[in-house]
Amino acid sequence: MNTKHQFFTTPIYYVNAQPHLGHAYTSIAADVATRFKQMDGYETFFLTGTDEHGDKIVQAAEKQNTTPQKYADKISQLFQDLLPVIHVQNDRFIRTTDKSHIEIVKQLLSKIYESGDIYFSSYEGLYCFGCERFYQERELIDGKCPDHDVAPEVIKESNYFFKMSKYQEWLIDHIKTNPDFIRPEQYKTEILSFLKEPLEDLCISRPKTRLTWGITLPFDEAYVTYVWFDALVNYISALGYPDGELFKKFWPGTRHFVAKDIIKPHGIYWPIMLKAAGIDIYNGLNVHGFWNVKGSKMSKSIGNVTDPNQVIKEYGVDAFRYFLMREMVFGLDANFTEETIVSRINSDLANDLGNVFSRILSMNHRYFNGEVRGADSDIEKSKNLSLEADGKKAIEQFKEAMLLCKYHKGVGAIWQFISAMNKYIDVNEPWSLAKDEKNIPILGTVLYNLIEGLRLVSCLIYPIMPSTSARMQKTLGIHPKDKSFFSLDETMSWGQIKKGSIIEKPEILFPRIDVKALQVKEQVIKTKPFKPALKEEITIDDFAKIDLRTAIVLKAEKIEKSNKLLKLQVDLGAEQRQIIAGIAKDYAPEEIIGKQVIVVANLKEAKLMGEISQGMILAANQKKKLVISGLDKEIAPGNPVK
Ligand code: MSP
Repeated sequence: MNTKHQFFTTPIYYVNAQPHLGHAYTSIAADVATRFKQMDGYETFFLTGTDEHGDKIVQAAEKQNTTPQKYADKISQLFQDLLPVIHVQNDRFIRTTDKSHIEIVKQLLSKIYESGDIYFSSYEGLYCFGCERFYQERELIDGKCPDHDVAPEVIKESNYFFKMSKYQEWLIDHIKTNPDFIRPEQYKTEILSFLKEPLEDLCISRPKTRLTWGITLPFDEAYVTYVWFDALVNYISALGYPDGELFKKFWPGTRHFVAKDIIKPHGIYWPIMLKAAGIDIYNGLNVHGFWNVKGSKMSKSIGNVTDPNQVIKEYGVDAFRYFLMREMVFGLDANFTEETIVSRINSDLANDLGNVFSRILSMNHRYFNGEVRGADSDIEKSKNLSLEADGKKAIEQFKEAMLLCKYHKGVGAIWQFISAMNKYIDVNEPWSLAKDEKNIPILGTVLYNLIEGLRLVSCLIYPIMPSTSARMQKTLGIHPKDKSFFSLDETMSWGQIKKGSIIEKPEILFPRIDVKALQVKEQVIKTKPFKPALKEEITIDDFAKIDLRTAIVLKAEKIEKSNKLLKLQVDLGAEQRQIIAGIAKDYAPEEIIGKQVIVVANLKEAKLMGEISQGMILAANQKKKLVISGLDKEIAPGNPVK
């Protein structure tokens, strides 16, 4: 038989931060696709890894007082350790600091350089250090980088450029003639609309005077390679391009998984790089949306960066994988909250799947001591008792959805079948059939169809919940041969549970989660102690003794011999005052002049470093950093603040 091959990749993740929910999602989505393709008879190769060069990593390492290599080793290991936890079966984990990868990047650069598509030129442009790239003015929002919300800096340098513009028309044509190249449709439209504007050539080098942590250009020792030109090559270096067996076997069937943040490098740079190097273009790009947590973008400052290890510890890996696949419509953004995962576990997993499993097998125990009686084909036909057609329909719908990465629909097809099984139980009332001896063959037929239905469900959930699939199959007494799953063809063939076999009493697949306990837990989290501890309670009268007034800073200067204090002259409306404020570490004098502030105006005069202080300005304190409190709108100095 001619085996079909498919290659799946995730982005290689930056090692400047620890793995979170978003990274776990892409890896799980690609793993689900891989396992599904295996069921569909494909031989697969799954690649993931870490992206370790560039400014971002240098900065992160500096913050930790370590070297980029040591830092990369540590974080890369966290990404590697996560894979078995989320049940992702990778065939290779690549690191861009791997020697073999570095060699291939150099080879590719030389090839494109020799063909004349890389040239040297001087360039002045707007550079965002966060993105490690130059920006066009029209790409900025209010003059700022859309991702980092900071104004890029003007930089002038001589660099190497890749002639992307030369391939613009070719790329547009390639995207239009290969409808499956970028999926889902909205991202294809986004790339095509971007390509309506003239494509700039890509700056693919960074001078070593600015950055050394990268791959040295093979044709100029004074430069390192731009991190994206290095990173994208991982997809072929991992397969042993150009002559490796894996490359020959798997490259023609490549599907990359990425989120919407990196469609440009994948949808534009990468195909053009391949074209320029004379390599076949990859097969397709699957683009998904972003996970927000509790309605906001994950961010350290909000404190909502979700660690997949924690969620799995709490709810289990299969519930986590199920939730991610069921909740996100591939291509759109989704929201993660503890309430929604618990509600999915309780309704879909405990109630629907868990319940139908234990309901059917418990009845088979109650009526037949666990023995599978088998279906009587005459009864089945005459009473229209076969569930085979519903099962077949579920498999077809499942397959169609999974091929298009519509995971929520794939899951939906299985759950529709579960609901059909529940309806079948309600209509056929096994408990009524059991009351009359002459109906026992009908009861046997009904239960056989239901048990076969459970077999089918256990096979179809495999890509999403491999452990639960195995647990169900162990109970049902079926075991795939030489692999850990049943193929779609095997799943399709109705009647595989052996007549006369004994099925054990079912275990509970997913225990219900006590929502009340969850609420208590949330409250406990919310009432964690203040740091520093709250001061003794005061009355409104106590507070009224403090006279707060608006003021404007007129003058500010440093106090000699103190690195903490600034001497301020402030306008309090009725009078001008001198205030000595401990803000010199966080504010330069020129930064604070003209600022509207709030002053404790009735504070007893004091002397600090020999200078009189006639009041105090209010400031918030976070991790020893001070931020002066101001007012929302401009207001004349001297007005009371309550
Ligand atoms: N190193 C580059 C990729 C190079 S690939 C040749 C990079 N790394 S990254 O660490 O920033 O990873 C970005 C990817 O992580 C996204 O494309 C997506 O796969 C995943 N996610 C990161 N945050 C995410 C969400 N909040 N939601 C969903 N996935 C997101 O870019």
